[in-house]
Amino acid sequence: MSAQDSKFFNVFSLVLGILIIITLILFALARLVGENTQRVHVKSEPKYVAAVEGHLTTARVAIAGQDNSALTIRAVGGAEAPALALPTDGPSVYATVCGACHTNGIGGAPRSGDGGAWAPRVAQGKATLYKHSIEGFQGSAGVMPARGGRSDLSDELVKAAVDHMLEQI
Ligand code: HEC
Repeated sequence: MSAQDSKFFNVFSLVLGILIIITLILFALARLVGENTQRVHVKSEPKYVAAVEGHLTTARVAIAGQDNSALTIRAVGGAEAPALALPTDGPSVYATVCGACHTNGIGGAPRSGDGGAWAPRVAQGKATLYKHSIEGFQGSAGVMPARGGRSDLSDELVKAAVDHMLEQI
């Protein structure tokens, strides 16, 4: 490298360094200005406030002794959301819970109406079938979850669903 080249290189590096420093200063300055103007104004912007309010409604907590009606979950359009209906009899329990596996034999479940699959199970006696349905059962075919996975079902409803399934054979 000639002396002239290295001089040019030094000056060039210096200019480059200064430009980088200026960039950083401008960056910091822009953030500082943005901090004091943008943040303040964004927070008072009605759309922003409405969006925050909207998010807060899902995070509100019911307080005993106060009016908590604002917490009611509503479907879009303002109508009350229907509660997850608890099935009320054997066929409806089967339709909403058990059928998910037993209609098509998912995961090794004996298909309702399949006499061959049910015969050895029926032979165990109804009491065992009720017990296995309520408490859950791990057999050679697969896993029967307790109450079909709906822990809120009463014993009576699970039994009614078993009766309904046995009627299909
Ligand atoms: C997630 C899938 C699934 C759901 C939901 C399900 N079952 Fe099952 N069920 C199974 C499987 C798998 C078996 C077979 C287990 C085995 O024999 O290995 C079974 C077996 C059974 C048996 C026979 C038990 C025995 O001793 O042979 C009965 C009765 C039964 N289910 C009733 C029900 C009822 C009633 C419901 C609804 C409340 C229900 N099942 C929901 C998967 C399911």
